[in-house]
Amino acid sequence: MSEIAKLIVQGKEYEFPVVVGTEDEVAIDVKKLRSSTGGIITIDPGFKNTGSCESKITFLDGEKGILRHRGYAIEELTKKASFLEVAYLIIFGELPTREQYAKWEKDIQHHALLNEEMKDIIDGFPTGAHPMGMVASLTNALTAFNPATVDITSSEEIYTAITKLMGKFPVLAAWSHCKNQGAPFNYADNSLDYVANIMQMMFRIPTEEYKLNPIAVKALDELLILHEDHEQNCSTSTVRIVGSSEAGLFASVSSGVSALWGRLHGGANQAVLEMLENIQKDGGDVEKYIAKAKDKNDPFRLMGFGHRVYKNFDPRARIIKKAADELFADLGTSDPVLAIAKHLEEVALKDEYFAERKLYPNVDFYSGIIYRALGFPVHMFTVMFAIGRLPGWIAQWREMRLNGEPIGRPRQLYTGYALRDFVPFDKR
Ligand code: CMC
Repeated sequence: MSEIAKLIVQGKEYEFPVVVGTEDEVAIDVKKLRSSTGGIITIDPGFKNTGSCESKITFLDGEKGILRHRGYAIEELTKKASFLEVAYLIIFGELPTREQYAKWEKDIQHHALLNEEMKDIIDGFPTGAHPMGMVASLTNALTAFNPATVDITSSEEIYTAITKLMGKFPVLAAWSHCKNQGAPFNYADNSLDYVANIMQMMFRIPTEEYKLNPIAVKALDELLILHEDHEQNCSTSTVRIVGSSEAGLFASVSSGVSALWGRLHGGANQAVLEMLENIQKDGGDVEKYIAKAKDKNDPFRLMGFGHRVYKNFDPRARIIKKAADELFADLGTSDPVLAIAKHLEEVALKDEYFAERKLYPNVDFYSGIIYRALGFPVHMFTVMFAIGRLPGWIAQWREMRLNGEPIGRPRQLYTGYALRDFVPFDKR
């Protein structure tokens, strides 16, 4: 028998269906709340208790530290699949066959050219501009070069829009880096795989031979897989809500890039490395920064710590920490900020403040250290996160459109003035 939830408001009782997810998560279906109660709403700033949709893409359990895409554990995906393979899985629902994968890769490669006029737009940015601002703008600019609306009933048109974005987005990202550096732009080399190609587009200079390091490519592939999707986070919810107005895929993803840039979201990976460097410059006094993070009169937060959903551990952070150790061993190098990060984690995890609030290292805590070891400058960290998250944004946009979800339009509780008389200038 299906369960119901009872709500008593102002002496009246209302009943709402209870819905249960695949993993026994329970939700109260309040779709009919307003219509059945005559206008009552729920208030939930930051949507801490609100499910905005039903989704079949990603399952995460914040208490147990579980992350799965389409039923597959993140630990297995990072070890056994490639970034593009996981992208296909996340977007279309199943792991690709060899034939599907070959077509997917080829179709993406086919779109790895930008209209040359995009260079005029990039020229308009000042050298040194932050690449995240450029990537958000350039993703939106793709709409100008692809003005036709995608017919949502045509799987072919959706597929083409998706492969276009998958092909062009890393080029935009790489060219934003080149613009920031005043360096020449590199075109895609379709003899390379997707991730190796990202590295050569970012780092190759025409005067020298560029040698790809397979260890670095493998490490980057794994890191990007870890970022592919994370259900209804801030940028993904942004993509879904923008797309719900029937804005196109490129415009919706561009808004996701902007949302990701914030320091509390993807911008945290840049903020973590800056924080670790500051601690290093300040003599490595980790305890001092822990005290600052605990001080309510100090706005400082331990960047890379805490998560809205993970209240035990972030499985991605565990994988990344191990990957950082493996990468430095493989490359035969080291980074003093890794030691600071580990010390900071150790001290914080023993501290009552962090334990009580269930604050643990998140995905951004160690990722910047790996990006730096791979040669990415700090301003590119969040852009790399965006490249990793692209399949997730696409999958969520596609699911939302195919589900025919209504336009996102939350309600509010008005707490301003009641009706009052207009006051003319000379009486104010
Ligand atoms: N350092 C110090 N105190 C913290 C931190 C932190 N990093 N994070 C949370 N707190 C405290 C916070 O002050 C509050 O304390 P109190 O209950 O005494 O007022 C309590 O913990 C709960 O914090 P909250 O801000 O209500 O929690 P939230 O779920 O709204 O925020 C968060 C989650 C990730 C925004 C937050 O933990 C944070 O700001 N972390 C630092 C930024 C960061 O690393 N972001 C990356 C998140 S993971 C990747 C991604 O999303 O892109």
